[in-house]
Amino acid sequence: MSKPKILIARAIFPEVIARLEEHFEVESNQADATWSKAELIARLKDKDGAFTTGGDRIDAEVLAACPRLKICANMAVGYNNFDIPAMTAAGVLATNAPDVLTETTADFGFALLMATARRITESEHYLRAGQWTKWSYDMFAGSDIHGSTLGILGMGRIGQGIAKRGAHGFGMKVIYHNRSRLDAALEAECKAGYVGKEELLKTADHLVLVLPYSPASHHTIGAVELAQMKPTATLVNIARGGIVDDAALAAALRNKTIAAAGLDVFEGEPSVHPDLLTVPNVVLTPHIASATVPTRLAMAGLAADNLIGFFKENKPLTPLNP
Ligand code: DGY
Repeated sequence: MSKPKILIARAIFPEVIARLEEHFEVESNQADATWSKAELIARLKDKDGAFTTGGDRIDAEVLAACPRLKICANMAVGYNNFDIPAMTAAGVLATNAPDVLTETTADFGFALLMATARRITESEHYLRAGQWTKWSYDMFAGSDIHGSTLGILGMGRIGQGIAKRGAHGFGMKVIYHNRSRLDAALEAECKAGYVGKEELLKTADHLVLVLPYSPASHHTIGAVELAQMKPTATLVNIARGGIVDDAALAAALRNKTIAAAGLDVFEGEPSVHPDLLTVPNVVLTPHIASATVPTRLAMAGLAADNLIGFFKENKPLTPLNP
């Protein structure tokens, strides 16, 4: 019997490709650049399955052009690159890669919060530029992390990981807002108290965004919300670009409506709003919150397991639209 044909849409670990080749006839993108939609369709139209990353958009147009397609396995927990209703209508299974990146991503969220509040990259640029000639009482004075109020918007697994780091590691008071409230045992474990969104915005010294992107969460943080925050507050986005109105944020940083921001994700990434590149009080990283070697290997392994499980036993591990 011939092997199912799969497409790996981006370059990934050679050992994961080798494993997939044991089970499938594999075509893979070795160029390490995202294909245009036309290129993606040209390569996917004769495939039974796809290994995708967050930059590979699977929508109604792609699905209509790829009638053999049965599954797309995303190497990401987020799946806003998938049009799930269109996939379901086309009978194409979607899977994502949850859990394996939770702690690594929470580590990074905390690292970005600390770098932002304590102005680490800004001060490093100053030093590297040879501008450090004397001590000053207020040189790069930032805001405290220990003992401050940590706000979390979106309290899934990663949000809970950040809450635990803040409460248990840094003695922070943790408040959160989420579509649904955690049960009492989980709130106690995270030492986190539920508040309304407005109270969260007004009270947090550091606000971390960890909610999924959907049309409903588009620009959850815009000019109005930024104006509700403390002028000393730090905003961290490790969720998705589009949740924050980047133009409004750049203006708020320039006007000191809030003190600082740390951003790992951007609207229209890998492009970054030009105004964000010119304000000093923002730490910018290229969507690397899950980027450790063990975690990226685990994410790729889970996406591969989803493809293998689906084609071998019709048992994908983490289906989104079963
Ligand atoms: C995810 O898994 O959704 C991350 O954003 C990808 O690194």
